[in-house]
Amino acid sequence: MDEKKVMLSGIQPSGDLHLGNYLGAIKNWGARAEEFDCYYFMADMHTITVRQNPADLRRRTLEQLAQYIACGLDPEKNTLFIQSHVPAHAELGWVLNCYTMFGELSRMTQFKDKAAKHKDNINGGLFTYPALMAADILLYQPDYVPVGEDQKQHCELTRDVAQRFNHIYGDVFKIPEPYIPKAGARIMGLSAPESKMSKSMPEGCVFLMEKPEDIQRKFKRAVTDSDTERCVRYDPAAKPGVSNLMNIYAAVTGKTMPEIEAEFDGQGYGKFKPAVGDAVIECLRPIREEASRILQDKAYLESVYKAGAEKASYVANKTLRKVYKKIGFVAR
Ligand code: TRP
Repeated sequence: MDEKKVMLSGIQPSGDLHLGNYLGAIKNWGARAEEFDCYYFMADMHTITVRQNPADLRRRTLEQLAQYIACGLDPEKNTLFIQSHVPAHAELGWVLNCYTMFGELSRMTQFKDKAAKHKDNINGGLFTYPALMAADILLYQPDYVPVGEDQKQHCELTRDVAQRFNHIYGDVFKIPEPYIPKAGARIMGLSAPESKMSKSMPEGCVFLMEKPEDIQRKFKRAVTDSDTERCVRYDPAAKPGVSNLMNIYAAVTGKTMPEIEAEFDGQGYGKFKPAVGDAVIECLRPIREEASRILQDKAYLESVYKAGAEKASYVANKTLRKVYKKIGFVAR
């Protein structure tokens, strides 16, 4: 019998992956499969709560899948699938809508933020999204749900809904714990080192699939600090720009801060910035090449998401059947 604990997470295919995503999180995901039974899905059903261009959504869903595989998520060791390929998500999502309160949904800060941002499209799906997310999670009876800070409130709601359901019908759902991963590197923007690297500031953001010359240009233009000493020294408070570049360099080369300081001793920033650029380019090269190769190989990609959906459906349908029986639906 498989004694591994179960872990599940969803990823919205709404933007291109960047160096901050990789060094901060994805890089460490491959190794998790040794310890946990891992499920990762492309949350395409969630993305349509905000209007999407259909061709872009389709392309990004497949691109992200290819990039995750290229970053080390082995489809033989992890279950990788596309949310809309497993109908149980929509089915349990409806049921859980009926066990999630209007007041609870009204308190979700992500809803309030997105409603303020998209005033012309405050749709029902945007409001009930957390009930679908609860279904995504509870279908797989996971022990842990790795999420960022912004998703903790939705995980809390998932636990509340699961407990409410279990209280009425007996133990149907496992109550999952949020899983706060051991801190990966926290990477800041190259053009504004006081805020996290983000696709909304593209000049300071290095995308995984970006061309080497574009990456190098961004590093050469990276903001360093206006202090007078002009030396490579790790001091996040006084020298946030240089310290961020050092963090990046350390993460991609495995070197320590004293080693980096010694390497660039007496050389100023002119040598340092392109050296970081080169190291990042070399780190991303195999990922970019592998992701492009996978994307070309449509048959392989299809075999991955089909096998993933089949494995996921088997587990999800077991939970769904239990739920339908408990609430009084006639067996199909
Ligand atoms: N809501 C998550 C986000 O915006 C994505 C997501 C959907 C998710 N379903 C999930 C994350 C289930 C973890 C578990 O990032």
